[in-house]
Amino acid sequence: QRILFVTSEIADFVKVGGLGDVSSALPRALAVHHDIRVLMPAYREVLASSRKIRHVGHLPAYADLPACEVGEMTCDDGLVIYVLLCPELYEREGGPYGTGPGGYGSGGWEDNDIRFARLSLAAAEIVAGHAGLDWQPQLLHLNDWACGLAPAYLAWQGLTVPTVFTIHNLAYQGLYEASRCAALGIPQSAFHIEGVEYYGKLSFMKAGIVYASHVTTVSATYAQEITTPEFGCGLDGLLRRKSEQGRLSGIPNGIDDSWDPRTDAHLVQAFSANDWRGKRANAEYVRHRFGLAPSAGPLFAMVSRMVHQKGVDLVIEAAPSIVQAGGQLVFIGSGERRVEAQLDRLAERYPGAVGVYIGFDEDEARCIYAGSDFLLMPSRFEPCGLSQMYAQRFGSLPIAHRTGGLADTIEDGVTGFLFDEVKLASFMQAIQQAFSVYHSTELFYAMRRAAMTGRYHWRQSIAPYTQLYQRISEEAGVEAR
Ligand code: ADP
Ligand code: GLC
Repeated sequence: QRILFVTSEIADFVKVGGLGDVSSALPRALAVHHDIRVLMPAYREVLASSRKIRHVGHLPAYADLPACEVGEMTCDDGLVIYVLLCPELYEREGGPYGTGPGGYGSGGWEDNDIRFARLSLAAAEIVAGHAGLDWQPQLLHLNDWACGLAPAYLAWQGLTVPTVFTIHNLAYQGLYEASRCAALGIPQSAFHIEGVEYYGKLSFMKAGIVYASHVTTVSATYAQEITTPEFGCGLDGLLRRKSEQGRLSGIPNGIDDSWDPRTDAHLVQAFSANDWRGKRANAEYVRHRFGLAPSAGPLFAMVSRMVHQKGVDLVIEAAPSIVQAGGQLVFIGSGERRVEAQLDRLAERYPGAVGVYIGFDEDEARCIYAGSDFLLMPSRFEPCGLSQMYAQRFGSLPIAHRTGGLADTIEDGVTGFLFDEVKLASFMQAIQQAFSVYHSTELFYAMRRAAMTGRYHWRQSIAPYTQLYQRISEEAGVEAR
């Protein structure tokens, strides 16, 4: 099948979080069975890359959405990426969503509604054959709020094209004033509770959920959780209905071959299960980089967007006890300024035992997965989570809240530790368990081995996505007849 995979970030060029990894790896995994291509905005980083961009299409202005060109580039491995060329919207200094760190939420660009409505409309126009490309997709696979309006634009044009809308994080919804509808070419008649309206505002996320043929999310547990008021971000009623209609499912993310401690060139020393000397070399490097003292105790790490979702506050609370028990801690991440400042203070308070790097650095992140003994992930909610899978592959045992994808990808007491409540007492229990496992070396190594041989690979996502694509294509065919 010819599939256009639409995304607002891809690790090849710009990555804020897991969506960037997924957008890079999933189309490549699916390419074995499908003619799948990617569409994304031509950000500054895209234009700055050495790859040649061929102009292949043109899209006219619509409402306040400017006209733009479609470019085509081919990656070394053959993946074709269509880029939306519109310098006034996308060629900027800063992240894909704004200038603030941690992406997604904070410091968003003021014209994000226009920027991502433009992306959504471009997807709809391409699938409708209006862009002049010599390749026409049969199905759209859309990701998160930034592409949410695409199925809606199709519906408003009376087109029945099969569309999959994947929710990577329901908490970021793309909410705008109702008065913006006209500028975005949204018909007044769609602004109601069965359409794009969300508590008086316009919601891109809701548009995606309402108008897509099928909604997926990135783990089975999160697919169930978002149908409840606790996790549903106000959309649980709608999602319950989708689920009852068989139009909501969970397909877990995987990890790709680049995450392999035996071959990863970013590591100080490559290593395999049982080669703990190799792993130790990475730990020494991390201790040195973060100014920690040499130690025989366990090294705990957090590699994360430093935002409320991820439960950093809990880790900060737990830190004194961890240090007191002989553990050390390293943090790498950026996000909410207040949290960043708290982390800096923690490092000042425990020199030699706590190290903090505020920023985004994938090479360092890989070394930290390789060098640490435990990864802390007390997320309040976690649609899938990739960090815990990377950590396991690199022999760092995750200590995580039993929620979403964490519950689905960590085997408690076998490949990591799960705790039930986002409360200090519950978290500390798991940490204490980790300490005691660390000190019974044989058990610790057995858990490490189990974690490193985990079976989370993108290959496993191919069949469920393929079945889904087939099913909704058949349904759309019947509808169109
Ligand atoms: P989310 O998408 O919610 O941020 P995931 O666990 O799915 O969570 O994905 C996070 C991704 O971002 C992982 O690839 C992780 O290694 C990476 N990451 C997070 N923070 C940093 C950082 N400061 N530096 C480098 N990589 C980071
Ligand atoms: C989101 C989620 C994360 C998930 C990622 C990729 O950012 O927060 O849990 O792994 O998307 O699907």
